[in-house]
Amino acid sequence: MLIERRIALKNVGRINPAKIEDYMAAGGYKALKQALQMPPEKIVYELIQSGLRGRGGAGFSAGLKKKFTSEAACVLLECMRFIVCNADEGEPGTFKDRIIMEGDPHLLIEGMIIAAYAVGAQKGYIYIRGEYHKSIDMTRKALGQTKANGFLGDNILGSGYSLDIDVKLGGGSYLCGEEFTLLESIEGKRGYPRIKPPYPAQKGLFGMPTLINNVETLSHIPAIILNGAKWYKSIGTDQSPGTKIFSISGDVNNPGNFEVEMGVRLKELIFNLAGGIKDDKKFKTALIGGAAGTFVPESFLDVRMGFESLREKDAVLGSGAIIVMAEDKPIRDMLHSILRFFGHESCGKCVPCRVGTRHLLILLEKIIAEGPNNHSSDIDALLEQSELMAKTSLCPLGQSPVLPIKSAVRYFREELII
Ligand SMILES: Cc1cc2nc3c(=O)[nH]c(=O)nc-3n(C[C@H](O)[C@H](O)[C@H](O)COP(=O)(O)O)c2cc1C
Ligand code: SF4
Repeated sequence: MLIERRIALKNVGRINPAKIEDYMAAGGYKALKQALQMPPEKIVYELIQSGLRGRGGAGFSAGLKKKFTSEAACVLLECMRFIVCNADEGEPGTFKDRIIMEGDPHLLIEGMIIAAYAVGAQKGYIYIRGEYHKSIDMTRKALGQTKANGFLGDNILGSGYSLDIDVKLGGGSYLCGEEFTLLESIEGKRGYPRIKPPYPAQKGLFGMPTLINNVETLSHIPAIILNGAKWYKSIGTDQSPGTKIFSISGDVNNPGNFEVEMGVRLKELIFNLAGGIKDDKKFKTALIGGAAGTFVPESFLDVRMGFESLREKDAVLGSGAIIVMAEDKPIRDMLHSILRFFGHESCGKCVPCRVGTRHLLILLEKIIAEGPNNHSSDIDALLEQSELMAKTSLCPLGQSPVLPIKSAVRYFREELII
């Protein structure tokens, strides 16, 4: 019987998130006190050794990102370093970061202060999706308590280190969750992406070295400081250590967020924690990783969930969204809503994505309308165009439609033209 193993959600439902006293009684802010006694390089080293990887989607080493940010040279004479927490949570099917902000905001804040100290950041922003009213209120309240208790602000706990953190609200654009677009948005500009490199660690917010991490990633840091990198590395798998929150929705009896060790099998998540398929129907597919993710067939139920184990099979873990579809749900309806979504969210800055997302939708609608009469070359055209978009688009949004299209065609080609 699979049970949850909680690191990021350990206090959720157990403490009153509106009271810093409750968080402290559960061991909160001990890791910060310990971290402030450590040289910043030692914290960066510990995070690299822990193997913690970003939980926002790309899975980049959280420790290495901090190393690059702390070592980046400033291009301007007036040098500042920033830390930004990505709480935009725009990926369809993902609803985990809000649970941390609503249920244990101090854990996120503690992890963020430690990360800021490690890279020498003087100013931080938590960029929260504008519709997340409760997350915004809880995080703001928690920041006020953190300051009042001397864990934030000038000369934190007498260490000589000072940091200020503000909340910024997202305007509802999916693209604003992409790190550079998010930085543009904080700078007060329209949400357009920038060309990489340079990366945010080198030239980020207002041109300064900036560390940007997801809510869940930062929430793992206090436990790593308290228990050590070796402890963290012993959880999960070799390539994907630690735990992961999976947001499971769709045709399951018990949808919700479940935090388990990386390496869990897909079937354990769906049939054990999420209670199996609704109305005793059969499993057809799961869309893993959200709209920018991949459809997987029944044979994937035994696959272990981790960054590498999924990549080896041309699938992605992404932010941990799992949208389950029962036997009677048409793939083409889901694919249609995904392509409409990308068309709506394309910012229009580059031609391959601006025109390409519209064209993909037109092609799919033609395939659906013609059914069995459709010439199969339209499906090949759908594939070719999404691949071309992936090669020529300016930012990762234009590279996203290829994943759901390719996997839908690979596993459910026949069904698209019924
Ligand atoms: C279109 C797009 C939307 C994204 N939305 C989010 C988001 O809502 N939240 C998030 O944490 N990362 C999002 N990302 C990933 C970020 O660009 C970035 O990789 C992440 O904030 C890094 O944090 P991590 O290393 O802790 O994962 C998005 C990426 C793309 C391309
Ligand atoms: S790929 Fe799409 S979202 Fe990205 S810059 Fe081009 S038009 Fe904008």
